[in-house]
Amino acid sequence: MRATLRLLVLIPALGLFACKEAPPPPPPPPPPPPFHTILDLKQFMLLVIDPAADGVWDSVKTIMTKKGTEEIRPKTEEQWTAVRASAATVAEAANLLMLDGRARDKNEWMTAVRRLTDTAEKAMKAAEAKDPDAVFTAGGEMYEACRGCHQRYAQRLNNATEGVKDDNKDTAKAPAADAAKK
Ligand code: HEC
Repeated sequence: MRATLRLLVLIPALGLFACKEAPPPPPPPPPPPPFHTILDLKQFMLLVIDPAADGVWDSVKTIMTKKGTEEIRPKTEEQWTAVRASAATVAEAANLLMLDGRARDKNEWMTAVRRLTDTAEKAMKAAEAKDPDAVFTAGGEMYEACRGCHQRYAQRLNNATEGVKDDNKDTAKAPAADAAKK
């Protein structure tokens, strides 16, 4: 009982003390940024987008040599899952191109990114359906999405890729992943 009483007396006293002596409260710190990117755009392309896209492009292709043609197709459950994961990575990672600091503008850039997500989603669904032809077709559309954006925002890359795409048409190879790299 005594202790309680003493406390009751002390608390208001402390309150007074605090009011008199404490410096004005510092302004609240700014809220931490909601995300923390570590790659610049080129690194993001090279380390995230491109390897994931390769996972789709390399999964279904025809290799032609003098000895004949070799058809590459996913066969095992594991291989199909890997294709699906690669496509899903492209689709979702594309959203990270929309972040402030990466997006070059709020209009055309966003549309170009969305095109990549949509085509990658198509590839993902094709992999879910284990349909190699559909993976190949969606992979081609995905490639066009890369190229379309490079054409608009990285002309330097596009100049180097022009011929490669035409080659693809002639030989029916998978869309050349390398083309986007040059
Ligand atoms: C929304 C626009 C956009 C899309 C979509 C896009 N890119 Fe890019 N990409 C760029 C820009 C811009 C650069 C140039 C970055 C720089 O050099 O600063 C670039 C650079 C690259 C590079 C680096 C090339 C080099 O060596 O300088 C690679 C590789 C690349 N992209 C691959 C891809 C692939 C593969 C896809 C599709 C799966 C893709 N990109 C889709 C905008 C895009």
